[in-house]
Amino acid sequence: MDREEIEVLLRQAGEKIKVALDNTNIQVDTKTNRKDLVTNIDKEIQRFLIEAIVKQDPHAKIMAEENGRDQLNDFSGRVYIIDPIDGTLNFVLEQENFCVMIGIYEDQQPVLGFIYDVMKDQMLSGGPKIGVYCNGSRLDAPADLRIEDGLLGLNSGMYAANFHHARDLGQKAMGVRMLGCAGVELSALLLGQRIGYISNLSPWDYAAGGVLLETFGMKMSRLDGTPLSFSGREYFIAGTKKAYTEMIALTKQEN
Ligand code: IPD
Ligand code: CA
Ligand code: CA
Ligand code: CA
Repeated sequence: MDREEIEVLLRQAGEKIKVALDNTNIQVDTKTNRKDLVTNIDKEIQRFLIEAIVKQDPHAKIMAEENGRDQLNDFSGRVYIIDPIDGTLNFVLEQENFCVMIGIYEDQQPVLGFIYDVMKDQMLSGGPKIGVYCNGSRLDAPADLRIEDGLLGLNSGMYAANFHHARDLGQKAMGVRMLGCAGVELSALLLGQRIGYISNLSPWDYAAGGVLLETFGMKMSRLDGTPLSFSGREYFIAGTKKAYTEMIALTKQEN
């Protein structure tokens, strides 16, 4: 599927989510603990996206957070990695600051990425062959700022524990932001509103943003600088080239 087709699909998903919020008939369940939520809407949106993708691209492989689709052993060929609602806790408690995300890879190489912030109606999309767009307008890569020149997005638990110097890094930056949604934080990084983002993420949290970061020549990896595995949760760091290099020098070290 091409960029326009996926954007249409994501906007349709966004409309369904808004209708669900208006109807307030959202069923909330917990997964691994009381803060790890899933709703019937996460599952319905995932079903909707997968059905549409499979219809258009029957040979594609799919990895997605919910409904037992979270493992993929073979990443050869075209792979769609889907987070139907990124920021479910925000979706339930704030009714904003959540995204729908799709990352497309071909033989493990980034092809297209989409982060749709539903309540802001902000669609970031693109890939190495076409560049990065925000609601259809082509974006320039953000300035390659150093850590001391911008804001750092952080996972609140890692900040509180100063995990691998996360809090120390926050102190070097102009300030920290903790929005509780990987897609919103990565969008802010892509838009030049952050110098970096540190969190604990699964493949569907970073797959879409990863394509767009790569397109802009920005960096992402595990906290120790090694490549992300696209399987299971990992400590994650992304940033402008300069800030990433500065941050990695410290995060590699134990506290
Ligand atoms: C979560 C959010 C959150 C991050 C978690 C993710 P979900 O995604 O992106 O910001 O800290 O690690 O799991 O579960 O709401 O899709
Ligand atoms: Ca989740
Ligand atoms: Ca997520
Ligand atoms: Ca999710």
